[in-house]
Amino acid sequence: MASQSTTVLELRDIVKEFPGVRALDGVRFDVCRGEVHALCGENGAGKSTLMKIISGLYPFGSYAGDLLVDGAVRKFSGIKESQAAGVAIVFQELSLVRELSVAENIFLGREPSTFGVIDWDDVHQRTSALLRDLGFNISPFARVGDLGIGQQQMVEIAKALALNAHILILDEPTSALSDTEIEVFLGMIRTLKQRGVACVLITHKLNEVFAVSDRITVFRDGKSVVSYLAKDVNEHRVIADMVGRELKDLYPRIEKTIHGPILEVQNLTVPHPTIPGRDLLHDVSFTVRKGEILGIAGLMGSGRTEILMSVFGALHGKRKGAIKLEGETLNFASPQDAINRGLALVSEDRKRLGLVLEDSVSRNISLASLAKLTRFGVLDDDGEMKIAKDFVKDLRIKTPGIEAQVKNLSGGNQQKVVLAKWMLTKPKVLFLDEPTRGIDVGARAEIYRIVGEMARDGVAVVMVSSELPEVLGLSDRVLVMCGGRVTGEFSRDEATQEQIMAAATRFSH
Ligand SMILES: Nc1ncnc2c1ncn2[C@@H]1O[C@H](COP(=O)(O)OP(=O)(O)OP(=O)(O)O)[C@@H](O)[C@H]1O
Ligand SMILES: [Mg+2]
Repeated sequence: MASQSTTVLELRDIVKEFPGVRALDGVRFDVCRGEVHALCGENGAGKSTLMKIISGLYPFGSYAGDLLVDGAVRKFSGIKESQAAGVAIVFQELSLVRELSVAENIFLGREPSTFGVIDWDDVHQRTSALLRDLGFNISPFARVGDLGIGQQQMVEIAKALALNAHILILDEPTSALSDTEIEVFLGMIRTLKQRGVACVLITHKLNEVFAVSDRITVFRDGKSVVSYLAKDVNEHRVIADMVGRELKDLYPRIEKTIHGPILEVQNLTVPHPTIPGRDLLHDVSFTVRKGEILGIAGLMGSGRTEILMSVFGALHGKRKGAIKLEGETLNFASPQDAINRGLALVSEDRKRLGLVLEDSVSRNISLASLAKLTRFGVLDDDGEMKIAKDFVKDLRIKTPGIEAQVKNLSGGNQQKVVLAKWMLTKPKVLFLDEPTRGIDVGARAEIYRIVGEMARDGVAVVMVSSELPEVLGLSDRVLVMCGGRVTGEFSRDEATQEQIMAAATRFSH
């Protein structure tokens, strides 16, 4: 076991400041050969910042303290240098080039070449082998921009592994993966561990932490507050250390009345844009009532997101069937159309559909409600500020101020801004696609409470989520999708994890 305890990565008294924020305040952290060390903490605790220091993205000189790799102090000035030292990192924000193929992305900048000529056959073969080895079913030729966010995440992981690093850093690598893919991924970590790779795992899903970690360290407000062996503690303990307070019920119990139908989707069929004879959605019908929370469960690619996108006018192309809002047949030609009629969509891909990263927190929150905040053509700045401040407080958005640029917020806090923005539009129907992805447990409870209260106040909520406990905990009714079709529908009392899983894998043709 001697080799097991060889420290390969060590951080000593790291301090990192941004204007107005001390993101890291003297943290210590280390990982040994063949060890998985999980890093837990609330949104904004400083986890990603530390990883960016390790990878050289925040170069030597921009932080205080020491970074040691294989026992020697290193002063990385960029990612290339950390890579050369054997560190590979999967960043929380996907960093792929959408216009390039999977293979091009994986081997970007280090294509195998002989005398300067890139051997593309070799690149494609190596990519295929790598993806196969990982159990990922993706074509090396696919354009990354055409892949779903989950598949993009797999490409990102493959890209890091192609480096043969001995230190692997994974910052929320599974947030967009399906349960089956997560199993594959966890198996892969175990294999790498056996091969001696040292791994830092950041994830808000504690079941993953306990599935593979040897050690757990908790960060709170830029400080490393506690470390323990995973086998010595349980989830309850980790949550308490993360949040720094006792967390009561995660899911709210709110008394409410469910009224009549508000949104009716009848026989919705959407053909696949490129594969003739295949449908993205096939004969999908459902109704949502005022005050109701309808959960949509299903595996990745089952058509869950497509339902939301299609009703919202965000999927172009032909579609058959009828969509009725308050009894009136509508056919939204664009998301703007849908927004004007009182719909709102919190997308799973916040970078693409949710935020203007250069803009401030307050402007992003009020972005979709500018019409409401404008009187006689003048924007009511005070109103905008007050609302933004209230949301920052209610959702515990960690930011130096409402004027801070959204791009400087941590991943989970950006997600909270997206939620605030759509909640403010006071929609009749609120579509949520993976609303708590990347959000810590404490803030999750806040979001569930707010969504519950919106439903109580008459909003119809349709929520797509891969997390079954979340679907079961929040929904009044659950719709299950498989292969673009509805394969199950359960009331809150009937629904169980087993039944949903059975329906999610039942192809009905
Ligand atoms: N470039 C930046 N400029 C200013 N502040 C920043 C910047 N990057 C991070 N911060 C701040 O530093 C703190 C730590 O952020 P970090 O991204 O490390 O959190 P995290 O633990 O990874 O959170 P999450 O779970 O949401 O991803 C936050 O308060 C964040 O707003
Ligand atoms: Mg982060």
